[in-house]
Amino acid sequence: MQLYTIAYALPVHVQRIAELEQELFPENWLSESTILGELERGPCFIALTANGVDGYLQTSLKEGVLDVLRVGVTRNAQGNGIGEALMLRVLDVPHTLCILTVVKDNIPALALYKKLGFELYGDLGRAWVLTKTSWLSIHDRSQCIGTVAFRQVL
Ligand SMILES: CC(C)(COP(=O)(O)OP(=O)(O)OC[C@H]1O[C@@H](n2cnc3c(N)ncnc32)[C@H](O)[C@@H]1OP(=O)(O)O)[C@@H](O)C(=O)NCCC(=O)NCCS
Repeated sequence: MQLYTIAYALPVHVQRIAELEQELFPENWLSESTILGELERGPCFIALTANGVDGYLQTSLKEGVLDVLRVGVTRNAQGNGIGEALMLRVLDVPHTLCILTVVKDNIPALALYKKLGFELYGDLGRAWVLTKTSWLSIHDRSQCIGTVAFRQVL
């Protein structure tokens, strides 16, 4: 079992987040300056373990729409509940709709989002668009493909 705590990401954490980006998203990692800019766009969180920053989650938040831009956990720390804890923390941020995209063959991430109650919203070809509506929200769900379709995907 790995002990960890979730905290807000600060500019001092950007260098480490950039390292995690290169490890976890080698094809399209974000630079330090981009990550720094994203700290202004919405709440961002880190997961701290005895080894330092081992996970992070970046968002943009606009007009109640919480867009999860990135979530990642370093390989050595995966499977300890950190990714789920980061997602649960961000879902605590007041919002009406949470949205994210996930590449279709990313089985761990799809399983995580399904566990948290995300629904299939759209198909971008290589990736799914998933949403989760806040229980406070009156968001129009008429276009949502729905949970049943998400189960079929998995
Ligand atoms: C997706 C990711 C963030 C999950 O983080 P994690 O800390 O390893 O996940 P957790 O330990 O919190 O697991 C939570 C749930 O996710 C799912 N999950 C996690 N790893 C899984 C795996 N290898 N296979 C299947 N499901 C998995 C399970 O539903 C799990 O719940 P359970 O333990 O009750 O079965 C992590 O795998 C990661 O960083 N991947 C690389 C970056 C990435 O793809 N990010 C998502 C981009 S959309």
